[in-house]
Amino acid sequence: MIVLGIETSCDETAAAIVTGDGEILADVVRSQLDLHRPYGGVVPELAARAHLECIDGLISQALSEAQVTFAEVDAIAATGGPGLIGGVIVGVMTGKAIAATRKVPFMAINHLEGHALSARLSDRSLEFPYLLLLVSGGHCQLLIVEGVGTYRRLGTTIDDALGEAFDKVARMLGLDYPGGPAVERAAATGNRGRFKLPRPMKGRTGCDFSFSGLKTAVRHAALALPEGPLQSTDVADLCASFQHAAADSLADRTANAMAEFKSRYPSGDHHGDTLVVAGGVAANMALRQRLQSLATDHHMKLVVPPAKLCTDNGAMIAWAGLERLAAFGIDKAADGLDFAPRPRWPLDQDAAAAAFAGVKA
Ligand code: KG4
Ligand code: ZN
Repeated sequence: MIVLGIETSCDETAAAIVTGDGEILADVVRSQLDLHRPYGGVVPELAARAHLECIDGLISQALSEAQVTFAEVDAIAATGGPGLIGGVIVGVMTGKAIAATRKVPFMAINHLEGHALSARLSDRSLEFPYLLLLVSGGHCQLLIVEGVGTYRRLGTTIDDALGEAFDKVARMLGLDYPGGPAVERAAATGNRGRFKLPRPMKGRTGCDFSFSGLKTAVRHAALALPEGPLQSTDVADLCASFQHAAADSLADRTANAMAEFKSRYPSGDHHGDTLVVAGGVAANMALRQRLQSLATDHHMKLVVPPAKLCTDNGAMIAWAGLERLAAFGIDKAADGLDFAPRPRWPLDQDAAAAAFAGVKA
């Protein structure tokens, strides 16, 4: 089986060719960072136009890198949501057009399912069920991945996603976009104990997150400093204090999720307890170290897919399609060509919507 995966839900246009054995024959990503940098965030209309301009060329590039022709592609998988609607439309319409002309099945993949299953692409021995912490610019969720198509959401953010909070803190401190890597770099030389910041949701039951108040607390701390431009030590200390507070909050919520996971799957029912961390924020080494020690304390294994599979990419979408094909067979796995893009599409359809929660605008 060879699947073409297409990803266009945010600010990366991506196409990949993946085999049923999990071999990534090609994985090309065109980032729009430079386009959005002057605005300090993703501008949906600009993103949609940029996807449209490069999607055809990117698919051709993926095919040629993989040395595969359209005739050899068995199915098309494209992100069908959630995400910025203009971009999702570009990917879905392109995928449908190829599927219709080549007479192969079309699969609309939930972007979150792509992230959720990506760890099984990088670690083929990873078995269901596992706990997933998905932390990106648009999402912050804890889920139990029970099997292909079966996801139980334990918690989600009630306001900002964690990557979004990093980006906003960076912007208010005059750092580069995207903010996550810039905040992490500045934090490396900072004093994390200098500013007393809140630990949102810490100590509460459940697994929901909140980062908006923490972001505002950083603003207040910066405003309370003596007038004039921020000194680089102030920026470093603010970043270190923010990152440390975020890590505390993340660890507290994830510990609750670990307890929930273990109560649902007492030892012996499954093949080892694993916490998978996916999404762009998983690149943060300080957060990763914190989650590693949390996992060790709870006798769980931490799995973080390689950075290229953690950030948005086409390989995870192709792989989710292949997982679906393997689990359900072509007839059940395929979507009709009448599939309509879904800007909102919860992975766990039974989970109650969190108050104020939404996808990144
Ligand atoms: O998964 P991703 O590439 O795109 C989506 O949002 O879906 O994640 C991008 C997010 C941005 O908010 C970026 O600031 C954040 O991931 N990020 C980081 C780091 N690298 C990327 N956040 C914290 N620390 C990092 N090192
Ligand atoms: Zn994503």
